[in-house]
Amino acid sequence: MTAFDFDQITDRRGTMSLKYDFARARGVREDALPLWVADMDFPTAPCVTEALHRAVDHGIFGYTDVDAGDPENDYVWAIRSWYRERFHYEVQPDWLVCTPGVVFAIVQAIRACTAPGDRVLIQQPVYYPFFDEIRLNGRTPVSSDLVLRDGRYEIDFEDFERKAADPGVKLFLLCNPHNPGGRSWTREELIRLGEICLREGVTVLSDEIHSDFVFSGHTHQVFAGIRRDFELNTITCTAPTKTFNLAGLQISNIFIASPALRRRFLREVDAAGYSQPNVMGLIACRAAYEGGAEWLEALKLYLRANIDYVRAYVDDRIPGITAIDSEATYLVWLDCRGLGLSVDELEDLVQNGARLWLDSGRIFGKSGEGFQRINCACPRSVLERAMDQLRSAVEALRK
Ligand SMILES: Cc1ncc(COP(=O)(O)O)c(C=O)c1O
Repeated sequence: MTAFDFDQITDRRGTMSLKYDFARARGVREDALPLWVADMDFPTAPCVTEALHRAVDHGIFGYTDVDAGDPENDYVWAIRSWYRERFHYEVQPDWLVCTPGVVFAIVQAIRACTAPGDRVLIQQPVYYPFFDEIRLNGRTPVSSDLVLRDGRYEIDFEDFERKAADPGVKLFLLCNPHNPGGRSWTREELIRLGEICLREGVTVLSDEIHSDFVFSGHTHQVFAGIRRDFELNTITCTAPTKTFNLAGLQISNIFIASPALRRRFLREVDAAGYSQPNVMGLIACRAAYEGGAEWLEALKLYLRANIDYVRAYVDDRIPGITAIDSEATYLVWLDCRGLGLSVDELEDLVQNGARLWLDSGRIFGKSGEGFQRINCACPRSVLERAMDQLRSAVEALRK
């Protein structure tokens, strides 16, 4: 029994929620149970809500900023303590750049580290904005696809090295931990990637937004924390928004140790017209990092049990679907290839047969075809309903 009740259902409809209120706009049937985009159906930690209430009562929401160079600054202090205590990573105050989101930071990094026409390396299947933003910014994505071996994604280092050696490749977008593959990369794997990138003159952007959701038996390794030469070649993207369900508050914290890289990044942030961060985002982030650890530990236990429930359910009761283990993230990657359906037939089964709104594997790259991603950050009873609906739809296929 924990002090926090994650079984409670909170009605999110009519709150301008992307997950719940945009089915029709996105061509999805209205009665589909939404388990897609990566936010959670749980209220944030009480300490965050309390801090936000105090800010609302203050009533002034003018321009707000963080003095990143000041080690005594409360916001900077909260971030540094979180990374030191949880990941043994020492962030220097002047490395910090606040942006309204990690995807925004990825775009600035693409623009700062590459020129139009350059290539950017990714590892599909991967969080789809990686591919999309490279393309939208006039660069070319190159994927060194992950390899699914015995139910676990691995890196094909030979392929990765060959692709990194292409002189057109200037940047690597690392998803650490990996969404949707659920891998928490080991230190050894990260060292191999980092050494290849250094050798080939490829800058690394390490997207660590899911790092707080690495489950027991695995340890999150901050990529830049492995070695000083890695650190000087890396842009590390972090945020409290997945961890504490704050995506609507638009705040992320980017660490860039290299002064030259930071200058280039900041120039792009300026060019994008962004200056001061969202005051509510700052307040929520600080409160979460200062007081949210106990809530997070309870949440992780709940999420792990949800993931285990989904895995056991498909293994035992839905022939043709297997769940890739999530070493990290609250997302489960369902391998539906055993159903023998085409990509469109699988979509139809999920949406119209099971009345579920999941993320189709196809958006994560060609290697995602035949997969579906399910978001397990919801009360267990919702997942139970979802799994029953999926099972019934698969059973109906066989009739
Ligand atoms: C790997 C990864 N990076 C970034 C994001 C989104 O970050 P933001 O909302 O800060 O742009 C997500 C959200 O699902 C994600 O999974």
